Amino acid sequence: MTEVTLAVVGGGLRGLTYARRAHHTGAGRVVAVADPDPLRRAIFVEEFGIAPDRAHAGWEDLAAGGRVADAVVVATHDRLHTEPAVALADLGYHILLEKPMSTTEQEATRIADAARRNGIMLAVCHVLRYTSYTRAMRGLLEDGRIGRLVNVQHLEPVGWWHQAHSFVRGHWRRQDTSAPMLLAKACHDIDWLVHLFGRPPARVSSFGSLSHFRPEDRPAGAADRCLDCPIEPSCPYSAPRLYLGCLGDPSSEFWPLSAVTPGRTEADVREALRTGPYGRCVYACDNDVVDHQEVLMEFDDGATCSFTMSAFSPMEHRRTRLFGTHGYVDGDGRTLRLVDFRTGAEETITVDADEATSEVQGPSAADGHGGGDEGLTDAFLAAVASGDAGLLRSDADESLMTHRVVWAAEQARLTGTVVTL
Ligand SMILES: NC(=O)c1ccc[n+]([C@@H]2O[C@H](COP(=O)([O-])OP(=O)(O)OC[C@H]3O[C@@H](n4cnc5c(N)ncnc54)[C@H](O)[C@@H]3O)[C@@H](O)[C@H]2O)c1
Repeated sequence: MTEVTLAVVGGGLRGLTYARRAHHTGAGRVVAVADPDPLRRAIFVEEFGIAPDRAHAGWEDLAAGGRVADAVVVATHDRLHTEPAVALADLGYHILLEKPMSTTEQEATRIADAARRNGIMLAVCHVLRYTSYTRAMRGLLEDGRIGRLVNVQHLEPVGWWHQAHSFVRGHWRRQDTSAPMLLAKACHDIDWLVHLFGRPPARVSSFGSLSHFRPEDRPAGAADRCLDCPIEPSCPYSAPRLYLGCLGDPSSEFWPLSAVTPGRTEADVREALRTGPYGRCVYACDNDVVDHQEVLMEFDDGATCSFTMSAFSPMEHRRTRLFGTHGYVDGDGRTLRLVDFRTGAEETITVDADEATSEVQGPSAADGHGGGDEGLTDAFLAAVASGDAGLLRSDADESLMTHRVVWAAEQARLTGTVVTL
């Protein structure tokens, strides 16, 4: 296969993940990076042999030099997707764009318009579409194994420490600097459910709130930082327990620890917890995104779907139950249990394991999202190399449509109404 040349805008955790996969498989060669953080640029220069003059301090500098690669990964923060995506689409780059597409419908529409106008391929990083588990589940539906799909129950167990890390102390804690939780996190689930049904819902409603990580839930005697806190040892959200526990494990050192500090010693972690955002008491942060949310969807044929997102769980694979006219599927992210109503027979299907490790991968970013990160990178590079957009599981317009479902659900939650799409 032709090697695809890649530029990376935003050389953080996600940018590095896609770049490493491209490099590892040999399907892509990283030739340029843009990131204001000199440490992150240096990692790219060193790891991928990028020429120093192709390591830029921002996406604007990269764009100013014209098109230098076949494709670009845009993995900046949520509020910095639109301008680079539109400018780089106008230069003719094919684009792998991190989710959410953008934080407003107007901006996401601009991105989809730019992709169409320039005839480029633009894949939003809805990695769940690219797992073998998803392929297997869709295969059962397409083969009619459970008849007509009547309803779906879907759970996203975010995980107690993951909620504290990303959505209480971390980048995605506030709507005004990031996005509502449904957009920042569960846009994956809404996109995946629409993919499963094969069409958007006709109506949505939603409930949810920030119920726990608030000043009024702060235990008596708790300090503003875990390192000063007398009750830290008995707190489920202890930062020292979480982050010191990452040391020595390469996967946890990459995520979540890299977000906290580039250092890898106990002194580095303690310093970051003493001075940085990740050492703060979870009851004394400036967070406002929800910690639990429900979305109900009704489809044009009367089929329904309920989706639950909760912080108050272990961090695990999503769980999904499909109720059909002729059968039932219960999926836990690794296996699918199928019950056929015609025979009463039960079948357990275990999805393909990762080729390299012979294991079904875990759900977290450190695990590659159940194989989705690798699947997406490989599909995107193959699509660019061959010019075959059919290798992608969604294009810009499809992603815009599923984001619109998210915005409709969020509107329903905020207004206490049922929103018709
Ligand atoms: N698909 C998924 O499952 C998934 C998982 C986690 C995060 N994300 C999304 O990926 C995106 C990046 O998240 P992350 O965890 O990698 O964050 P990160 O902070 O590790 O990386 C973002 C990088 O962008 C850089 N940046 C800032 N301004 C820039 C500019 N003008 N030009 C170029 N680079 C600039 C920052 O310095 C930083 O290194 C976010 O939108 C996030 O929501 C997606």
